[in-house]
Amino acid sequence: MSVRRFVIIGQTALGSGEFSLDDLASSSGRLDVLLRCVRAALLVSHGLRREVLVYLVLRGDPGAPRVVRIDGRSAKFLRPDERSLATLLRKTLAVGAGRELEEVRPGLSLCDGDLEKVLEDVGDGPRYVLDERGEDVRTCALSEDGVFFFGDHLGFDDATLVRLQDCPRLSLGPVSLHSEDAVTLVSNELDRRTT
Ligand SMILES: C[S@@+](CC[C@H](N)C(=O)[O-])C[C@H]1O[C@@H](n2cnc3c(N)ncnc32)[C@H](O)[C@@H]1O
Repeated sequence: MSVRRFVIIGQTALGSGEFSLDDLASSSGRLDVLLRCVRAALLVSHGLRREVLVYLVLRGDPGAPRVVRIDGRSAKFLRPDERSLATLLRKTLAVGAGRELEEVRPGLSLCDGDLEKVLEDVGDGPRYVLDERGEDVRTCALSEDGVFFFGDHLGFDDATLVRLQDCPRLSLGPVSLHSEDAVTLVSNELDRRTT
């Protein structure tokens, strides 16, 4: 079975679970953006995409940098509303993390570390950076086993772009979209080509 992997770089999203569920956007360093990407990548109408892995890179202090991996093959209790997802993340982030990804709740793994941890974990498969200025996705070959990198509300920082400079850049069109909408469009593009 092929597995799609989506990586979202959260430049300000807190690495600790010390945010308020009642004021998620402003208390979590915009973790809400990343949670909407989780929903877009993993949840469909009345179901969960089992063939998807999502990596969240959390770079906002305190607690940063940290990586959370959500594996659709084993995840439980994923619900589409942001508050439920935020509650799940908060419980996950409350656990002390080691240097290697370790499952701390069903399907949710956590470690200390940054993009390098993700690159180690995903291995050598095809990688793509989602970028408004890239090549039109409709004219590109896409691997069903690809790893797709997305920026958050701030886009990508320069160091990340340098680290990923060898990856092809894919554009979803001329308009800069919200990250979760970009995730949806990539999923849709893969669905259309493979189902
Ligand atoms: C809100 S956008 C980032 C906007 C940010 N101000 C910038 O200039 O990079 C969030 C992310 O979604 C992806 N994205 C949004 N629109 C896209 C498009 N038209 N084509 C490809 N990727 C897109 C990119 O990965 C982007 O970093």
